[in-house]
Amino acid sequence: MTAFLHPFSDPAQAEGDFINVVRAKGSTLWDDTGKDYIDGLASLWYCQVGHGHEDLIKAITDQLGTLATYNTFAPFTNDVAARAAEAVAAVSPHPDGRVFFGCSGSEAIDTMLKFARLVQQERGHHDKQIIVRRTRGYHGTNFGGTSAQGIEPNRTGWGDLVPHFMEAPADDIEAMASIFSEHGPRIAAVLTEPLQGAGGVFPPPEGYLESLRRLCDDHGALLLHDEVICGFGRTGEWFGSQTFGVTPDMMSFAKGVTSGYQPVSGVVVSRDVSAELEGRGAMLRHGYTYSGHPAGMAAVIENIGIIEREGLVERSREIGEQMSAGLQAMQDDGLIHSFSGAGAVWGAEVGRDTTPVRDLMLEHGVIVRPVITRLAMCPPLVITDEEIARMLDTMQTALTATA
Ligand SMILES: Cc1ncc(COP(=O)(O)O)c(C=O)c1O
Repeated sequence: MTAFLHPFSDPAQAEGDFINVVRAKGSTLWDDTGKDYIDGLASLWYCQVGHGHEDLIKAITDQLGTLATYNTFAPFTNDVAARAAEAVAAVSPHPDGRVFFGCSGSEAIDTMLKFARLVQQERGHHDKQIIVRRTRGYHGTNFGGTSAQGIEPNRTGWGDLVPHFMEAPADDIEAMASIFSEHGPRIAAVLTEPLQGAGGVFPPPEGYLESLRRLCDDHGALLLHDEVICGFGRTGEWFGSQTFGVTPDMMSFAKGVTSGYQPVSGVVVSRDVSAELEGRGAMLRHGYTYSGHPAGMAAVIENIGIIEREGLVERSREIGEQMSAGLQAMQDDGLIHSFSGAGAVWGAEVGRDTTPVRDLMLEHGVIVRPVITRLAMCPPLVITDEEIARMLDTMQTALTATA
């Protein structure tokens, strides 16, 4: 046992039982035995531009050499943070909105939940505090995000969570409408991923997000999109909100915003909600020591530049075509029950515990993620056709061997 207490792991697991990753380039990584793996999950749904991208490393190290760190609490700012905010807003559904920065998806979620509550308080709606979540939703592990989890085991065991959260069954718009008809005057916001990622990769049912938008509008509630996985080209457009054609009032982002090279997250706030924050005539008493951290901000600007220069949003759609064709063939052969996804994020329903399939794929040098009876795939957007083919072939072999 070493001092390192791993996240989402069994604390009793010996350090020697983990795969010790020592090096990575593009879509490939190597462990300390020299074995290579295709990174079919882009680490943890985030490495859009692939590993070891020289331009991104240079942008960060150049920034470290100029201004390594300084806070952005009033009265300070830095140009890099201002430019990074412009760059994120420009590709988002709110080019005239404002961008708040944090470090993790969990911080972005808690920020967005607090902003939603704040706006309702400022409107004089003191009882409008309920946040409605969807079953299967994953929204991080801070207290706000834990309370917003639609994955029940992640919510339990911590004592009392944040009050005023309600859950609607994931795909049931009628159930959501009933919650609104019963509790509408007290609902501050609905929180949803446009495509549910960590819960198993489920795109929204046809018309679902549109109906959610209408319910929120009819009841004075805010629609909050959690774009932590969906953002930065993952679903075939810059954001899932654009892929599925529904504009939220606020949206969280993280992961792909820097491809993970620096820990950066944030919230895009619509122009209307920004106007409400600007009109309060009071300090925004929320922020993190590292909000707008210069090295992180340099990573944001360069990462967005790379996604643009290398056409990775378009590439995401091509990846989706190849992956969905491969998954369709596996379904036709009876190896999987069904599959769903968008762009370069896909989930396959196998109908049994997928941990043994994942383990065998690991032995064959391909990383995917088991989610109960599903297998999730989310490769870097620089993955080659040959690497996708190897991923799919390995999956087919492992499914056949474990059937
Ligand atoms: C949709 C979504 N929201 C929030 C988070 C939390 O992000 P972090 O682990 O950076 O706190 C995640 C992480 O996977 C996520 O998938």
